[in-house]
Amino acid sequence: MKIFIDSANVEDITLAASLGVVDGVTTNPSLIAKEDVDIHTRIHQICELVDGPVSAEVVTTEWEAMVEEGIDLSAIHDNVVVKVPIGSAGLRAVVKLREKNINTNVTLIFNPSQAILAAKAGASYVSPFVGRLDDITLPGMDMVRDMVQIFQNYDFTTKVLVASIRHPVHFLEAAKMGADVVTIPPQLLHQLLKHPLTD
Ligand code: G3P
Repeated sequence: MKIFIDSANVEDITLAASLGVVDGVTTNPSLIAKEDVDIHTRIHQICELVDGPVSAEVVTTEWEAMVEEGIDLSAIHDNVVVKVPIGSAGLRAVVKLREKNINTNVTLIFNPSQAILAAKAGASYVSPFVGRLDDITLPGMDMVRDMVQIFQNYDFTTKVLVASIRHPVHFLEAAKMGADVVTIPPQLLHQLLKHPLTD
């Protein structure tokens, strides 16, 4: 299982990367907005810190604009993965970006059917949001279990990237289910290292 850090903070990413367990980074507009820097500068900095996929999300909502924005973001660095929201505009953008050999991460996935469609459109990754389903008392990890099983059934090459991970149980369950990637907040990485008996 790959471990990505869900952050746009250089200090947090640098510290996490120094532990030797970070395979990539995911960002989103909220995480970028917390930083006093433009997205191009920050995504480039992150790509220099971590040699792996770095997701940068579009903020437009029409498919043509998403494609333009995706092309622009992908030009920052070879490792950039363009994050687009699920929906008809998002899938149309995925198709066009794939034609240009640009990797995509289809985000805001809340059921396995959305993930199947994103995979068939050619997404490199799908991002199911488990914590936000839990927030509305629906079992987020059940969605991941179904998704991993379905992708195995059909040998989909799209990777299941579990997002909106809030605590160590989400992390461990994702590993047990065979998720390809988990993206975790930096503080959770440090929490995972802790055990009172180790102390
Ligand atoms: O990767 C998506 C993630 O940042 C969302 O997490 O905790 O805001 O649902 P959360």
